[in-house]
Amino acid sequence: MIHTVTINDVPLSCFDAGEGQVLLFVHGFPLDYTMWSAQLDYFQRGYRVIAPDLRGFGKSGGAGDLLTMEQFADDLNSLLNVLEIDEPITLCGLSMGGYIAWQFALKYTERLARLILCDTKAAADSQEVQMNREVVASQVLEEGTQFLVEGMIEKLFAAMTGQTHPEIIKQIRDIIKNSSPLAVAGASRGMGQRIDVQSHLTEIDIPALVLCGSEDAITPPEEMEKFSRKMPKAEFHTIPGAGHMAPLEKPKLVNNLIQEFLAITDV
Ligand code: MLT
Repeated sequence: MIHTVTINDVPLSCFDAGEGQVLLFVHGFPLDYTMWSAQLDYFQRGYRVIAPDLRGFGKSGGAGDLLTMEQFADDLNSLLNVLEIDEPITLCGLSMGGYIAWQFALKYTERLARLILCDTKAAADSQEVQMNREVVASQVLEEGTQFLVEGMIEKLFAAMTGQTHPEIIKQIRDIIKNSSPLAVAGASRGMGQRIDVQSHLTEIDIPALVLCGSEDAITPPEEMEKFSRKMPKAEFHTIPGAGHMAPLEKPKLVNNLIQEFLAITDV
């Protein structure tokens, strides 16, 4: 079911279903919790699955000029407080959700039992990417989200996904189009300012599953495999035939890998 949880005066819309150990799913940019539908349907049979729309996105309030990864991580911590969840959780983040997961892992270490990182990076943005984030922020505030749809949609998916699953492309296209320009601008700037976590990877000493679509052009497998090797308890897998949106493009493969990881790292 969906409920609205108010944290620090911001209404966060949040999917919450099932019982058992908590799996918290954190969406990418500029999306909403529905990108996790296949995982939420599957895992609510054995776990409590929680998936918020991040501040400013989906049906949540709280968009602003600057939305930092740390602010999003603080929101997740407040959300767990309001839901009275004390036991260590498993956090699963995709791309920007992964940037947020790093912040959460470093700041709220005791809250985490396991980490699942899908299609994300540990490095900070280059200067060029940072400058482009500012261009995106200004442009979206001036002309709305349509240019972002055109610029992003092809890069998000593997070549075959458009032919085999046009409905997934439409789903994501609609979410991007309907996203709040202020939230897009704020998160764009926030991603540009995020810290480089490469020197902190050895501190993340919990079981971690690192997944990457074999055709991910945004956060390529080589880069993800490299950072996973620096994490003390990480295992890395590529998802054949998937791009940056691996959990949507290949839900069975991703769910099986997550299921196996949860079983062998039982806490
Ligand atoms: C995402 O999927 O969340 C974005 O591609 C992340 C980014 O722009 O770095």
